[in-house]
Amino acid sequence: MRRYFLTDRYGVFGNPIGHSKSPQIHRLFAEQTGQCLSYEPLLAPLEDFPGFARAFFQHGSGANVTVPFKEQAYRLADQLTARAQRAGAVNTLKKLDDGRLLGDNTDGVGLVRDLVDNAAQDLQGRRILLLGAGGAVRGVLEPLLAQRPRALVIANRTPAKAVALAEAFAELGPVRASTFAQLEGPFDLIINGTSASLGGDLPPLADTLIAAGQSLCYDMMYGAEPTPFCRWASERGAQARDGLGMLVEQAGAAFELWRGVRPETRPVLEKLRAELAAR
Ligand SMILES: NC(=O)c1ccc[n+]([C@@H]2O[C@H](COP(=O)([O-])OP(=O)(O)OC[C@H]3O[C@@H](n4cnc5c(N)ncnc54)[C@H](OP(=O)(O)O)[C@@H]3O)[C@@H](O)[C@H]2O)c1
Repeated sequence: MRRYFLTDRYGVFGNPIGHSKSPQIHRLFAEQTGQCLSYEPLLAPLEDFPGFARAFFQHGSGANVTVPFKEQAYRLADQLTARAQRAGAVNTLKKLDDGRLLGDNTDGVGLVRDLVDNAAQDLQGRRILLLGAGGAVRGVLEPLLAQRPRALVIANRTPAKAVALAEAFAELGPVRASTFAQLEGPFDLIINGTSASLGGDLPPLADTLIAAGQSLCYDMMYGAEPTPFCRWASERGAQARDGLGMLVEQAGAAFELWRGVRPETRPVLEKLRAELAAR
């Protein structure tokens, strides 16, 4: 019997995937913009991501990609946007009219929109410290440098990775690497792009990195409780913000790529924030 798909199918590939808020976010975007689509969590097998993704795209229109598949999605895409190329990772796949897969990376634009539009930060001329040198940090470097900060310093537990990233992005702006011990503060903005918070951990950070009442500390991670990094910041008089807004904004940019409509992200962020607080 022939199968019909009356709505366009989307989803998010990950492993694990049960915790993902993306299905809720995209359903809210679809409701708000009157778009007819389905969006589901997709538990991709660790041993065959490409086979699973190809099977989905026989009928699927687009997908987000989360841990641990972003680099594999980069290799799977037939065509890449400039920002995905630069990031070396793909968090959004779109099936083109000719059936080929376009790979994009909206994490960086998501972070910058959350900082600039939602948190009203002007990054031009600011001193920014970026902690970590993994996929997430790589993805945000170009859009952060496009905001023309005065300095962008990358510090990582494995220093060689920070050095390699700083070298790879040097042509785009004033970026350099440092060890944690050699950092000289204070910074206007400190972004935690390490996965330390996942284990309740904190990179080794001196109090002098913060200017009380002035610095903003941003953790790409989020949760019902403040992350260890956000707690560290608040206890030292800095403003703290978690990565829930980045999540909603990267989803908004993906939705726009797929549907050609830009959703209102703010009400969705407010709803998710209220739900987290109620837990
Ligand atoms: N809000 C959002 O939308 C969003 C989007 C993307 C990512 N994220 C978050 O960003 C974080 C990083 O993701 P990723 O994909 O970049 O991960 P990744 O590629 O695995 O990189 C992890 C980074 O964290 C560092 N690290 C891990 N444990 C540490 C510890 N205990 N102390 C100090 N440094 C530590 C690693 O240092 P080494 O190099 O020394 O191993 C590496 O630089 C995750 O928490 C993820 O959830 C959020």
